[in-house]
Amino acid sequence: MQEKLLKLKQEILNQLESIKQADVLRDLEIKYLGRKGELTKILRSVADLSVEEKKTLGKLANEIKIELVDKFAEAKAGLEKTAGADYVDATLPGVEIKAGHLHPITIIQNEIEDLFASLGFMALDGPELESDYYNFTALNIPPYHPARDMQDTFYINPSSAKASEGKHELLMRTQTSPMQIRAMQKYGAPIKCIVPGRCFRSEATDVRHEHTFYQVEGLMVDENINFSHLKAILEVLGKKLFGPETVFRMRPKFYPFVEPGSNGEYSCFLCGGKGCRLCKGTGWLEIVGCGMVHPSVLKAGGVDPKKYQGFAFGYGLDRLAMLKYGINDIRLFHSGDLKFLKQF
Ligand code: DAH
Repeated sequence: MQEKLLKLKQEILNQLESIKQADVLRDLEIKYLGRKGELTKILRSVADLSVEEKKTLGKLANEIKIELVDKFAEAKAGLEKTAGADYVDATLPGVEIKAGHLHPITIIQNEIEDLFASLGFMALDGPELESDYYNFTALNIPPYHPARDMQDTFYINPSSAKASEGKHELLMRTQTSPMQIRAMQKYGAPIKCIVPGRCFRSEATDVRHEHTFYQVEGLMVDENINFSHLKAILEVLGKKLFGPETVFRMRPKFYPFVEPGSNGEYSCFLCGGKGCRLCKGTGWLEIVGCGMVHPSVLKAGGVDPKKYQGFAFGYGLDRLAMLKYGINDIRLFHSGDLKFLKQF
């Protein structure tokens, strides 16, 4: 019996060596180690042996079984490894390559650029780090003018000698309006341009205020430009943004760089002007600051106010995106929160 056992073991080991397929391996395991397997049968027959034989043969049979179970496990692991290396299951779904998409503010910006391009306006880009002169003084807001208080910002190099006298040369622009001056200086009159861009203010942030936000500036300067040109352009903008039924109205408002200045309002697109939560019951949405360019501003841009007139306007892109998409917290725009961004 001992001989028989050793022979069987060798036979099994020989066969194991040449196996290349998992199902053949499984069949072999069943054939020898399964419930009715050959080795199992021998192990069972040990029970009928004499006590003396049981001791030696029983021990040997068990040892052989343990050894073979290990060898089968080893062979199985070996086959799985090589199978993984060169086997490709072409029926499995592929790995999706995720494409990014535009930020909601960029979507609105693109729409506005397209509209104004169709009206013959060029789109300009300006510096975010701006000089005090362009951001304020050239726009008819001299040092110590109270209008500066409305637009506190981040000043650069505050320890320089001039800064200690209250004069800061460089700051993060609070508005896109300084590009009115730069554009007139560079291109002269006549000119039609818009300037979308990032602006900054030292704000205590909340759902409606951010230290970083976006504006679009508009400027048109030519001979014989008057208020009706301004109104027509802003009416077109409103219909494009909020739909063809939109009504536009203007109410007087002070901005130092325009005279007269105005606040442009659109009929509320949500309630059609009846009054709702969005328009705070008024039926109107305050969207755009605008007016006829102040003669001092034309002069600062190198344009003769006796020959040319112009209008300018400016509004917040964040506010438009919030209205359009029903976003209730401006801070979401810069949060980098994918749960928010993936909705657009
Ligand atoms: N720059 C102004 C602001 O940030 C908005 C503005 C008002 C721009 C009137 C203009 C304008 O060009 O004419 O509040």
